[in-house]
Parts: sequence; C-alpha cells; structure tokens
Amino acid sequence: MFENSSKMTLTTQDDACSLQDFSSLSEAELRALDTSLQAQDSPRWDAFYQDRAKPIPFFGEQPDESLAAWLDDGHFPVNRGRALDLGCGNARNAIHLARSGFQVEALDYSAQAIAWARERVAASGTEVTLRQGDFFELALPEGAYDLVYDSGCFHHIAPHRRAGYVARVLRALKPGGHFGLCSFRPEGGSGFSDAEVYARHSLGGGLGYSEAQLRALWSPALQLRELRQMRKPAADSGRFGETFLWVMLGQKQA
Ligand SMILES: C[S@@+](CC[C@H](N)C(=O)[O-])C[C@H]1O[C@@H](n2cnc3c(N)ncnc32)[C@H](O)[C@@H]1O
Repeated sequence: MFENSSKMTLTTQDDACSLQDFSSLSEAELRALDTSLQAQDSPRWDAFYQDRAKPIPFFGEQPDESLAAWLDDGHFPVNRGRALDLGCGNARNAIHLARSGFQVEALDYSAQAIAWARERVAASGTEVTLRQGDFFELALPEGAYDLVYDSGCFHHIAPHRRAGYVARVLRALKPGGHFGLCSFRPEGGSGFSDAEVYARHSLGGGLGYSEAQLRALWSPALQLRELRQMRKPAADSGRFGETFLWVMLGQKQA
C-alpha cells in the first residue's frame, strides 16, 4: 500500500491481471497524480522527436502491418468515413488511412511531431487534418468517427487516466465504428505494475499489457474482431511491425 496524498490511498494488486481502480478519484486528484508522474508531458515527446534520424522503428514511413491488413481484408466499409489517429507521431498511419479513402484527423500533443507530420502529409499529397493537443483536453465530436486508431499512445497513458481514455475513445466512435490499437505486450513494456508507476513516479517508457488486461478494458464495450501478436514483416514489405506489440481491432455496437 502507498499514499500519494493525505486523501488518496492506492492499493497494490497481487493479481497480475488486475488493474488499479481509480474511479473514486476526483478530477483534482487525477491532476495531482498527473503532476506526480514524469509522464503525460509534451516537452518530453518534443525532445524525443528533435532528431528525426534516430533509429526508432516507428520513425519510418511504413504503416502498421495490422492496419494495412485490416484495410486490405475488408474490415471497414467501402465508404470509409471519418478516422481519428490518436498520438499520430509523424503521421505514417494517418497518411495510409487517407490513401485508403478515409477522411482523416490526426492529433498529437508534441509540437515537433505535428510539425513533422505536416511536412510528411504535404509531401504525400494526401489530406489529413492535424491538431496539436492533449487527447484528454481537445474537444472532439461525439459519435463521429468510423475508426479511431492508436498506435503506441495508449501504453503511455498513466493508469489513473486509463478509464478516461477508454471512455473518450468510446464517446468519439460512431455506433458500429471500429477502434484499432497497437500496444505493448508485457515483454515490450517497462514491466511496472500500476502500483510501481506511482512508487517510481514514472511509466518507465510505457506499460506492457497482458491479453487478459486488454480484454478486461475493451471487450465490455467493444466486440473484439482481432487480438493478436503483431507480426514482423520482411524489411522490404513496406509495412511496420514488431513482435513485442499487440494489435487489437474492436467494434462498437451498432
Ligand atoms: C510511441 S509514439 C507513436 C507515434 C505514432 N502513433 C506512430 O506509431 O508512429 C506515441 C505518441 O503519442 C503521443 N501522445 C502521448 N500521450 C498523448 C496525449 N495524451 N495526447 C496526445 N498525444 C499523446 C506522443 O506525443 C507520441 O507522439
């Protein structure tokens, strides 16, 4: 057991599948936890994107193998509709979605990432509406998106913001809309439990999730169409993939 303030007492969980429940905390208490963590900070991500030549796998132009496969395999309607890419980075997936016919909005709270995305979108000849800001603070239309996509953002969301993240994604989706996710498996993340995050004041580079945890978070509200380990495609495939990631596709009830 450990304490974050005189009012907040968070309990550790022995069961590896259970996730801490923060539902009783007020917005002020959630903000206090934001402040206590070295996370949720756009300056850190700005520094990360300063050097675009770094050998970071997702600094390339290739879309996720899973997203490309879902598009090719007919998971989405022919009349694509509206898509939102959360934590879009350099827009590699947003551009692929636009090429496939979606009307795409993409957001990221790093100004550096959005500047890079702007250049890449212009060079690609596609149209993507880019917004800089925090997913938790930007006003988003409700029930508007046929697809919400997140590659690598969710595992950087702090445990106390997790439920809010899920709720915002669900609110943004149209009935029948899809949510696509690419997120750390246990071996891909820091290995920190929720309790350790607050003890260490850090997510340690991102949180790994078990299959059971992903199902517990998403399957009550979404019909899971696919949940599998990401594949590592051949170098010349034009697709991105790493085996330490999960890919998940869920659909909101129509
Ligand atoms: C691992 S990177 C992935 C970037 C991109 N999706 C890709 O796969 O190439 C995670 C991204 O999420 C963004 N991010 C993290 N938390 C965010 C938040 N609360 N609101 C908006 N963007 C966020 C970061 O700035 C970063 O660009």
